[in-house]
Amino acid sequence: MTTSSSAEAAQQGRPWWADATGYEVYLRSFADGTGDGLGDLRGLRERLDHLEWLGVDLVWVTPFYPSPMHDHGYDVADYTGVDPRFGDLADFDALVAAVHARGLRLVIDLVPNHTSSAHPWFAAARSSRDNPYRDYYIWRDPAADGGPPNNWTSHFGGPAWTYDEATGQYWLHLFLPEQPDLNWRNPAVAAEFDAILRFWLERGVDGFRIDVAHMLVKHPDYPDLPLAAEPQRSPQGTTSEHLSLDHIYDVDQPEVLDVYRRWRKIADAYGALLLGEVYVLDIDRLARYVVDRDGLHLSFWFAPLHLGWDVARLRTALREGAAVAPGSVSWVLASHDRPRPPTRFGGGDLGRACSLAATTLLLGLPGTPFLFQGEELGLTDGELTLAEAQDPVALHTGDPRAGRDGCRTPIPWEPGAGHGFTTAPEPWLAFGRRTPADTVAVQRADEDSWLHRYRALLAARRAHPDLRTGEAVWLTDDGPVLAYRRGAAVVAANCGDEPASLDLPEGTWTVRFGTDRQREAAQVAGAVDLAPTEAVILTRE
Ligand code: NOJ
Repeated sequence: MTTSSSAEAAQQGRPWWADATGYEVYLRSFADGTGDGLGDLRGLRERLDHLEWLGVDLVWVTPFYPSPMHDHGYDVADYTGVDPRFGDLADFDALVAAVHARGLRLVIDLVPNHTSSAHPWFAAARSSRDNPYRDYYIWRDPAADGGPPNNWTSHFGGPAWTYDEATGQYWLHLFLPEQPDLNWRNPAVAAEFDAILRFWLERGVDGFRIDVAHMLVKHPDYPDLPLAAEPQRSPQGTTSEHLSLDHIYDVDQPEVLDVYRRWRKIADAYGALLLGEVYVLDIDRLARYVVDRDGLHLSFWFAPLHLGWDVARLRTALREGAAVAPGSVSWVLASHDRPRPPTRFGGGDLGRACSLAATTLLLGLPGTPFLFQGEELGLTDGELTLAEAQDPVALHTGDPRAGRDGCRTPIPWEPGAGHGFTTAPEPWLAFGRRTPADTVAVQRADEDSWLHRYRALLAARRAHPDLRTGEAVWLTDDGPVLAYRRGAAVVAANCGDEPASLDLPEGTWTVRFGTDRQREAAQVAGAVDLAPTEAVILTRE
């Protein structure tokens, strides 16, 4: 079954995801259907009403596979199973059926860069140097001084190599030691994943979100990384050894594109979507993954998610994504890995207003936008103490704000104990001090809530085909207002802190969506005035 907007796309020869609005479900924190404090597949199935009511088309669910959970499921011990804490394969099948019955699509998370160290492949690989599985992973002899083979670092801190006493070599892990990297130069690994893709496609999934899709292949010589000319900064503004290196050999190697050419043939036979988490902030490099029509169908474009409320940088990020890879980027402002946008944009109602304005801009651009669960509620990061932290990044640094827990706290469905998320005495991760006004129940009862505004925005995108087809033509090159025209639609936001005005193309324009909902249905001509953080979608009949 298809949604109204994806059916329309199909009729016009565009793929179903071209018109979709996606929604990321961070499974552990969405809804607990079994009362153990952890979100699960049953809980998600029971809450699909919310997603259908909100008006999304495509649900991406984070990993549910058997895992020791060192990285909360991004350490997979069995690619074709379901961890009992999340349910079983019957629950998965029931979820697929329920999603499809509502005309929605389901995309699952595939984690091909690394396995869990508890995966049987790694246990075999570690057992001896001549085990047939040894070459599924990346092993190197110690350097002359006995230390790691090169200066590569883990994303989570410390060296990217761990020494195996029993076999006298180091294994590579670009994340935790418990997440050994697979050797994608070994054809046997590629063959294993062909079968994994087919396994889930046969079970009815509509596509894959590919974890760290730019990282699978490494430089064959494993050279030391040079220092970066300009060190990057974490979302908290800190730097680290990892951020000070120029990652030219450990990620984004040209051969990784061959993996997606191979997968494309498999996915296309099922009409399924390949959506990459290509964490490359240079749009020309990112475009290589999507524009040749034989690689990934879509990639997330993370530049907007890295920004504070900075109109010049936001303008550049949006224009680049829309121009260099038109229709092939997935727009995101939030994820389970970064501070929530209202927090990044200053917190409170001001941060929420900035987030809604930025989302309005993203939703009309060529490409497939995604919301992250809780974005529709205007949630800021949950406030957690170090004792409440769960993320390995927080535990490693001893700083709860350095970790990713703040954006991962469970969804507050309703006020009160358990917040309608769980019946267990405690959720797996604390709620982070939510108020009744943060909850779905309270916001649904209030037509003026953030939740209703996000819903109205999604409805406007669905109702106006011009917002989903054709080129985006920018109407401003500088100043506080970001605005573009697509066919007979104009999308505009005032990203400054003073009132501003946008000159409109000729004709009379109707407000189809306004962050100030009182303006909807009003007609304007000549120019539209916008208060600070106000955004509108206008159409001309
Ligand atoms: C990206 C995922 O989004 C993140 O949560 C995870 O820790 C890393 N990849 C490693 O799999």
